[in-house]
Amino acid sequence: MLLNNRVALVTGGSRGIGKAIALALAEQGASVAISYKSNDEAAAAVVEGIESYGGRGAAFRSDVAGFEEAAELVDAVAERFGGLDILVNNAGITRDTLLLRMKEEDWDGVLDTNLKGVFNCTRAAVKIMMRQRFGRIINIASVAGLSGIPGQANYAAAKAGIMGFTRVVAREFGSRGITVNSIAPGFIDTDMTSGLQDEYKQGILQRIPVGRFGVPEDIAAVAVFLAGPTSGYITGQTVVVDGGLTI
Ligand code: NAI
Repeated sequence: MLLNNRVALVTGGSRGIGKAIALALAEQGASVAISYKSNDEAAAAVVEGIESYGGRGAAFRSDVAGFEEAAELVDAVAERFGGLDILVNNAGITRDTLLLRMKEEDWDGVLDTNLKGVFNCTRAAVKIMMRQRFGRIINIASVAGLSGIPGQANYAAAKAGIMGFTRVVAREFGSRGITVNSIAPGFIDTDMTSGLQDEYKQGILQRIPVGRFGVPEDIAAVAVFLAGPTSGYITGQTVVVDGGLTI
């Protein structure tokens, strides 16, 4: 299997895209830890799913927005599984509203989780990966960071920030065996998007050339590739997985 003896951490792995990535990495033989914000039962079920592939799984309740908390998470995973090879910075939230209605806490909440969270986990993880002289960091951005979507000034700023961050960290650590890439999903059917109005969703669907919304497994397949042995010459990139939405 592609990821035998690899150790992965997927932040926000209790549901949606993070869950699909965690399971797909486990299917390829990796030991997989997930972090999550609040739902203990959902996280435990994902660990069961990971272990059903025969590997080791673990769940940590931890807020990526906390600098110390994120470092403790990364260290705890490395201690539990004896290292850390793959970090998937997936945890994210939305607080959509038009700019003039956007409160300071809407801005700070989204930036703290979606962008600072990536910094927090990456900074802790590269220390371990440098010692190993191997690492794969995969950041979940969004097409919102490429094309402006009204109501998402906070989210788009965070996601565009992730792509810039990815390019810098890729340069800084390329000689240490660490690659850093982003995935920019389009519209993926998860809890995050389930609350959107039907009319809005239909409008988006009409603009997707492949004619369907994405599913979490569409993103997981790319994450497995970027985490695996054949992608070592790809770094600093953003892979858009959107069914053609942003062509
Ligand atoms: P979701 O809402 O279903 O899952 C989010 C996960 O993040 C949950 O496991 C939650 O516990 C975790 N999380 C949230 N805040 C956290 C925090 N402060 N600390 C730790 N964990 C936290 O969302 P979904 O759709 O699975 O999204 C996953 C990622 O993909 C996010 O970064 C999102 O921005 C991104 N994305 C999603 C798209 C979509 O259409 N669903 C499109 C583009 C990007």
